Amino acid sequence: MNNPFTILGIAGSLRKGSYNRAALRAAQALAPEGTRVETFDLDGIPPFNQDEEKQPPAKVTELKARIRSADAILFVTPEYNYSIPGVLKNAIDWASRPYGDNAWDGKPVAVMGASIGNVGTARAQYHLRQVFVFLNMHPINQPEVMIGNAAERFDAEGNLVDENTRKHIRRLLEALVSWARRHEKGSQATSA
Ligand SMILES: Cc1cc2nc3c(=O)[nH]c(=O)nc-3n(C[C@H](O)[C@H](O)[C@H](O)COP(=O)(O)O)c2cc1C
Repeated sequence: MNNPFTILGIAGSLRKGSYNRAALRAAQALAPEGTRVETFDLDGIPPFNQDEEKQPPAKVTELKARIRSADAILFVTPEYNYSIPGVLKNAIDWASRPYGDNAWDGKPVAVMGASIGNVGTARAQYHLRQVFVFLNMHPINQPEVMIGNAAERFDAEGNLVDENTRKHIRRLLEALVSWARRHEKGSQATSA
């Protein structure tokens, strides 16, 4: 049997009742056939210190290995003060270093996010897309999944109960898989 297509999902919140972590759990359940959405929890990653980038903490080494073994990345970001939460940016920075050993390099990526406000993380997502440029990640543009008014879309146990949002997440995952497959074919053709 072929190995499943693996998406590494990273939620940018450490909160137990996090809507973004709940959205990532929903994505795991909505993965297209032949695809597995794995998760990496950012809890326990210390603040980035460039003095340690050549001997990073074990959790960062593990993160870099998990990124490299995944076929694609899915970021599920909250919006903090109109931008990317520190815990997520911190993990991105660790895994991008030291210079020349950027684990994100060339990875296909999709982004979604949930917020209690009605703009649904749009501003944080566009900041994250700017970061993808220097990381040399390859993002899909659409669909954009911005889950506003999250408190109304998840039940008290953190299940995503809004059918329209579930449909959007399914479409996002399908688009990411097809983009990553095209990307893989393209890189095989250029390396042949
Ligand atoms: C420090 C901080 C800043 C926030 N800034 C924003 C913001 O700019 N836009 C927004 O829509 N929500 C903002 N919120 C509310 C978040 O959308 C809400 O806390 C959300 O539940 C966070 O994601 P989580 O449930 O995955 O932890 C902010 C929350 C915190 C704690």
